[in-house]
Amino acid sequence: MLLVPGSVNADLLFKVEKLPAPGETVLCPSYEMAPGGKGSNQAAAAARAGAEVVFVGHLGDDGHAAELRRILSETGMNIDDLAISAKPTAIAVIGIDKAGENAIIVASGANLDTGSDQIADERLRPGVTVLCQNEIRPEETFRILERAAARGARTILNLAPAGRIPASTLDALDILIVNEIEARMVAGDETTPLEILARELARRHGLVCIVTLGSAGAMAISADAGWRVGALAVRPVDTTGAGDTFAGVLAAFLDEGLDIPDALHRASVAAALSCEAIGAQSAQPTRSAIDGRLGELAPPVTLRAAARPAP
Ligand code: RIB
Repeated sequence: MLLVPGSVNADLLFKVEKLPAPGETVLCPSYEMAPGGKGSNQAAAAARAGAEVVFVGHLGDDGHAAELRRILSETGMNIDDLAISAKPTAIAVIGIDKAGENAIIVASGANLDTGSDQIADERLRPGVTVLCQNEIRPEETFRILERAAARGARTILNLAPAGRIPASTLDALDILIVNEIEARMVAGDETTPLEILARELARRHGLVCIVTLGSAGAMAISADAGWRVGALAVRPVDTTGAGDTFAGVLAAFLDEGLDIPDALHRASVAAALSCEAIGAQSAQPTRSAIDGRLGELAPPVTLRAAARPAP
C-alpha cells in the first residue's frame, strides 16, 4: 500500500507563446482548470500504474473542491482522508510555452493544514510505502517521514520544490528523488559531478539517491551500486508534472516488489508519456500504456562507482 500525504491544487493552465519575463505581461485566448499539486499528481500516477493508494491532504470549502474530489476519486485512489480546511483550496497558476516548458506559482491555502496529525500510527508500518513531496509545511513532511521510518515503513521523498532538509530526515529516507538543482541544494555543492555527489549523499545517509535529468532520463545511485536510464523520445506538449509521474510510478512499482532498475525503467517511460498532453494528470499513462511502450526504451545500464576528481 502506498500512502501519499501532500498537496492538492487547482491548476489554472495558460498556453502562451512565451513565458513572461519579470515586469512583462503576455496574453492568451483562454485557460483550463485541471487537478494538480505534486502530492495528488504523484498519488494519481501511482494509482494509474496499479498501486493501492491512500491520499492524505486538505481542500478548501469552495468551488474547486467538489470537482477536484470527483476527479481524484475517479483515479481509484482512496480519498477518505482528504479533509476540509477553512482556508481556500490551493491554486497553481501555470504558464506553458510553445516548447512545453512551464513557470508555476502556487498559493498554498488549504495545503498548509495538511500534516502528521492526520496520519494514525497504525497506517505507518512495514509493508507500507510513504511517498512525500515538499509542497505542504516542510516540518510536517519531515515529521511524517521520520515517524514512518521509525515504524518500519519504506520512505520516499521527492524534494520538490527544492528546499532545505535536516540530516535527521535524510537519515530516515530509503529513497530521495531530486533533480540537479535539488540535489545540489541538499548537498550544498555546486561543482562536484552529479553522480559522485549522489553517491556521497547515498553513503552519508544510507539511502538511494535518484536524480532526474529531464530529457536525458534519470540515474539511481546507492552506496555501492548505480544505474542510468535514458528517456523515451516523445514530442512534448507540456512537461508540467512529469517529475510527479516519475515519482508516483517509481513508488508504485517499488511498492509492488520490483527492484530499483526495473522501477526506474518504468518511471522513465511514464514520465515521458505524461508530457504528451496539457495538464499534470491528463496524460498520465495507465499501467498497460507503460507496459506497451517499455520495449521502446533500453533498460537501465549499471554504473561503475567513479572516484571523486582530485581538487
Ligand atoms: O509538479 C507540477 C505541479 O506543481 C502542478 O500540478 C502544480 O500544481 C504545482 O504543484
